[in-house]
Order: sequence, then C-alpha cells, then structure tokens
Amino acid sequence: MMAKHIVLSVFGICVIIAIAHANGNCQNIEGKIKIMHEWVTLDYDFPSPMKRSLIDRKLLIPENLVLVNMDVIRGRIFTTIVRTFKPGIPASLNTVIKRNGKSFLKPFPNLRLNRAGDCKSIQSASSIKIDPNTNYLWVLDEGQVNNIRFCRRKLVIFCIRTKKEVFRHIFPDSVLSESSVLLDLTLDRDQDLTRYAYVVDSIASKLIVVDVVVNKSWLFSHPSMEGEANAGNITVNGETLFSRGGINSISTTSDFKFVYYFSIASFKTWQIPTSILRNRFADSITFDENVRMIGIRQHHAVSLTSGTRSFFFPALEINDILKWYRKQDILTDGSEEEVNLRTLQRLSPTTALNFADGMHIDNGFLYFVTNKFHKFRLGTLDFSGDDGPNFTIGKIFVGEESYLLGTHPKPYKK
Ligand SMILES: *[C@@H]1O[C@H](CO)[C@@H](O)[C@H](O)[C@H]1NC(C)=O
Ligand SMILES: *[C@@H]1O[C@H](CO)[C@@H](O)[C@H](O)[C@H]1NC(C)=O
Ligand SMILES: *[C@@H]1O[C@H](CO)[C@@H](O)[C@H](O)[C@H]1NC(C)=O
Repeated sequence: MMAKHIVLSVFGICVIIAIAHANGNCQNIEGKIKIMHEWVTLDYDFPSPMKRSLIDRKLLIPENLVLVNMDVIRGRIFTTIVRTFKPGIPASLNTVIKRNGKSFLKPFPNLRLNRAGDCKSIQSASSIKIDPNTNYLWVLDEGQVNNIRFCRRKLVIFCIRTKKEVFRHIFPDSVLSESSVLLDLTLDRDQDLTRYAYVVDSIASKLIVVDVVVNKSWLFSHPSMEGEANAGNITVNGETLFSRGGINSISTTSDFKFVYYFSIASFKTWQIPTSILRNRFADSITFDENVRMIGIRQHHAVSLTSGTRSFFFPALEINDILKWYRKQDILTDGSEEEVNLRTLQRLSPTTALNFADGMHIDNGFLYFVTNKFHKFRLGTLDFSGDDGPNFTIGKIFVGEESYLLGTHPKPYKK
C-alpha cells in the first residue's frame, strides 16, 4: 500500500494511531500538493483588444489583483478578488479556467453583474461559500469599490447552474459599525436546510448571524473576537507583518452543533455551540457562558475550514497547513464540550506554501490559495516573476468531505 508508506514517512506515529481509530474509514493522506493554477500576475479571460483597452483606460490594473478566497465544487473553482480599497479590478467574483496551459479568471455570473456602482451587481466579494447540497454559491459583498461605498453590504446567493440570484440579505445598520469589514463566513444547516451564515466582522471584532429563512441578522461580540496587541507580529519567510485583526477564521462542525473560530492577531482557538448563535435573543452574557477556549496554537493563521472529522488551518510561520483531528480528540477528552486542541498533523512539511489562505474541502481534497499576502501588504511583491508564482491554487488529498455534507456523506469519487 503505497499511500500508507507515504503516510508513515511524512506524518509519523500520530497518524497511525489515527488510522487505527478511523472506524473502517481508510484514511490515506498522500502529503503531496498538486498545484492546479498559478500566476505571476492574475489575468482575466478577456479578448486581447478588450484587455489592452481596459489597461489603457486604467480600468484594469493587473498589479492590484490579489487572490484571497476560493471555493470549489466538483473541481470547479470560484475565487474572489477584493476591490474594496483598489481601482482597476473589473470583476470581483470569478471562476477559474485553463486554456493552453494558462489559467484565467472568468467573471461570474458575468462581467455586467460585477459592475461597480450598480447595487444589483457584486461590488467587492470578500468571501464565498458553496453549498454542495444545493449547488448554491453564497457571496459576501462588502459593497465598496476603491474606497467608495456604492452599496450596502449584502449576502447574495446564486444558483451556480442557472447563474441566477436566488436570495439576498442586506445587512442593516443595527449589525454594522464604522469600522466593519466583513471578511469571511461559514454556513450552518438545520433540519436539512442550509439556513444560517456566520459572518466575521474582523476589524469591529464581531460575529454576525444571518438567518435566510426570516431574512434577518443579529450580532455577538466577545473579547475572544478581538486581536491581542502582543500577538500581532506575523513573520513569514523572514518578513514581518503586524496585524491587529480580530475574528477572521471560522468553520462549523459536520454535525452542525459547534462553530470554531479564532482571530488574526491571536493564538487562541474558540468553540461556541450553534444553539447559542441561532438564537437571536441570546445575549452576550449567554455567549460568554457558553464560549470555550479549546487550545493555543503555535502559529498564526488566516483561514479555517472543516471536513467530516477534522479541521484544517494554515500555520503561517512554518509555511504549512495543519490538520486538527477533532474526532480523535473528542474520543480522548470524552465529548466535544470538553475537547482540546491536541492531535495536530502537518500536511506538507516539505513544501513551502508562502502564506496559505482561503481553504475548502471538495471530493476528498483540501483546496487552498497561496498569495504571498505578507509581501503584498509590505509592498515587496515583485511582478517580474523571478521568484516563482505569486498566486497559486493547490490541493492536497485529505480523505474527507466538506462539513456541509454532514457526518455521513456519500463516499467521494477519485
Ligand atoms: C511575486 O512575488 C515574488 C516575491 O517573492 C517575486 O519575486 C516574484 O517575481 C513575483 N512574481 C512572481 C511570480 O513571483
Ligand atoms: C431581505 O430583506 C431585504 C431588505 O432588508 C430585501 O431587500 C431582500 O429582498 C429580502 N430578501 C428576501 C429573499 O426576501
Ligand atoms: C512586533 O514587532 C515590532 C516591530 O518589529 C516590535 O517593536 C514589537 O516588540 C514586536 N512585538 C512583539 C510582541 O513581539
């Protein structure tokens, strides 16, 4: 069994124990990253004359394009390019296609529905989540382009097949503040309906809940959602980025009973029952009584996702992605109410990932973006291409399915 040998050599004893407990589910972790797409500079799938014209009129400024988030369904990749603070970005929401070995961004649903200043359209998509149960694409839209607030912030759901909008929620003033920046979300299913979105407001340090059945949102705030002043230095490949960022990384468990989250400028990882979040009358005292710190990480991370058994997050300082074998630690600690962050495995210790970001699981693979964000922020990004690609979308086999398919998904297809 070749896969097993690779597992042994890469992950050591920890994984063998995990396999012994894996309850008949053969868990092969290949530990090999496959790069699906890579770019020195991101490029749209526009005809050349159109591209030249857009560049001439400064409507396309390639060096302002930064890949941050992605999601994937049956291998089809969707990405977001944040244009909240930058000009020259024709489309914020895109799919990724490959032609003659080169990767291109293709606006979704189309270029027109990415038009700045038109509130029917997407303004600046900060994050997306695809629900594999429904084929719906959930888009978090900051409503602002190049520092101009054209539209209110919204959560829009598209049917991927028809490219039609099926739902939108406009965030009311009651859940927002001056400093609000909505950066990411996770979804929660209740009685076979994907009903709640938990949205992180990273700078205002809040968690906003959207209930799509009643089309309402409400918020929670708690000290665990704030960045810590003494945990803000993030050093990647010798360059240091300082962040005060609060709650940023969030994911729901596959039984939809808990949400885990952490802040950018913090090593602490937290757990809150979904029963608290779903209750729009729960107050901050109830939140405080039910939130629990489950462990301290060694490294910074800006992304979190979950599969049927584990959670996955980057470890920026060591250029890797970690797997937290949650199911294993629930067995060790007795219950999820008592679980601690114990069983951590490095997914790819031999490949430097250069700032791993937005992640999602599809069909047995963990997909992720790398974007050298530390360099982008520090202004040292070199667009000449001498130092390898600045942006990649990669995948690594983890043998789990997306948390959104629940605890007993159909076996993935290889
Ligand atoms: C991207 O950034 C790196 C900086 O590491 C730079 O050297 C490189 O030339 C830029 N372009 C590419 C593709 O890397
Ligand atoms: C939800 O409410 C907003 C106004 O707050 C409205 O614009 C939107 O159409 C509503 N969505 C649905 C699906 O009813
Ligand atoms: C973070 O970096 C700054 C500048 O390099 C330094 O002054 C500060 O002491 C560092 N803080 C911590 C907690 O390491």
